[in-house]
Amino acid sequence: MKIDLYERIWAGGVVVMLALFFGSIAVGAVGRNQHPPSHIETIDPTAVMSDARFATQGVRVDDQGQVHVWIVGLTFVWLPSELVIPADTPITFHVTSVDVTHGFSIVRTNGQTMVLPGYVSQFTTKFAEGEYLIACNEYCGLGHHDMAATLQVVPRDQWLAGNDATADLPVSDPMGLAPQTAEGSHARH
Ligand code: CUA
Repeated sequence: MKIDLYERIWAGGVVVMLALFFGSIAVGAVGRNQHPPSHIETIDPTAVMSDARFATQGVRVDDQGQVHVWIVGLTFVWLPSELVIPADTPITFHVTSVDVTHGFSIVRTNGQTMVLPGYVSQFTTKFAEGEYLIACNEYCGLGHHDMAATLQVVPRDQWLAGNDATADLPVSDPMGLAPQTAEGSHARH
């Protein structure tokens, strides 16, 4: 079989490029320890709803005063579909999926992560007061475009007044979440 010189040059170039592409994927995956987003926390995707971390979804305050949000993604909703969090406060999101890959995206903020079944994705960020849309930004099926939730970011005093989760706030209040003023204390009633 006769192969023209130019064709041989181009074919050789293609082989070299493919070797480079596959090589870079191999180096990224093995050499640089490529892994799902954040810190490689695993979870049984078939038992998410009975897992202690996700059995109750929503906002919780830990004994250090850190505010956490636990969210489950499934075709085609985020649970819970409405969240209320305090403004200008670091919030740690933990998100997992019970079925396919979803994309957790708090629109027009830096809060977003890929969500894979079997893993818990985590990030911490803070927000200015306002209402935000949480969308899914990984195509996950026919209802992908309906997979949305809302995030209400309210002033901290208002949040403390209206949120039972804060009953667990420690006395030392390391995050400075408790109202600082005298009026703040009766805002709880
Ligand atoms: Cu979930 Cu797209």
